Amino acid sequence: MKIAVFVGSLQQNSVNKKLAGTMEKVAGERMEFEYIDVNLPLFNQDLEENYPVEARRVKDAVETADGILFVMPEYNRSVPGVLKNAIDWASRPWGTNSFKGKPAGVVGGSIGPVGTAVGQSDMRHIAAFLEMEMLGQPELYLANATHDMFDEQGIMKDERWYKNITEYVRVFGDWVESHKK
Ligand code: FNR
Repeated sequence: MKIAVFVGSLQQNSVNKKLAGTMEKVAGERMEFEYIDVNLPLFNQDLEENYPVEARRVKDAVETADGILFVMPEYNRSVPGVLKNAIDWASRPWGTNSFKGKPAGVVGGSIGPVGTAVGQSDMRHIAAFLEMEMLGQPELYLANATHDMFDEQGIMKDERWYKNITEYVRVFGDWVESHKK
C-alpha cells in the first residue's frame, strides 16, 4: 500500500519526523511511505491557472496513494500553517479536491501535555470538509514529546509508546486496506 505522508514540520530535528520514521519502520513491507514535501509556495488563487509544479506533485502523490497519513505538531492549538497550506494546494482548483474519498489518519507529537489533541481536532474538521475517510480510533497523541524518547536513528525507544504506535499502524493499515478499490 502506498501512503502519502504529510509531516507538518519543516525543522530539521523534528519529533514528528521521528514519529513518522518510527511508523514507517513499524509498517515494514506492508506500507510504502511517500513523504510529501510541504515546503511549498504560499497558496494564492492567482496561481491556480498556472499551478506550481511542486503543488501539482503533491496532488499527484495524493491521488495515486492508497491512504494519507498526517503527522503533525500543534501550533497555537491548531494545525501548523505549513501543513494547512499544503492541504489547501491539494484541495484545489475547485472541483478537483485530491483528498476526496481517501482513507486517512492523523497522529502527532508536541511538547505540551495534551500532545496535539487540540490541533488534531482542527485537522479532523478540515478532513471532514474535504471528504476524507478519517480513521476515528485509536487516537495517538504523543504528549510531552522530547528527543530523548528516540534513539540515534530517530526511532521511538520508550516501550509503551512503541506499543501504542505499533497498534496505531496496524489499525491504520487495516483501515486503508478496507478502502482499497
Ligand atoms: C509550538 N509548540 C506547541 N506545543 C503544544 O503542545 N501546543 C501548542 O499549541 C504549541 N504551539 C506552538 C506554536 C509554535 C509557533 C511553535 C514553533 C511551537 C511547541 C511544539 O510542540 C514543539 O516545538 C514541537 O517539538 C514541534 O514539533 P516538531 O517540529 O519537533 O515536529
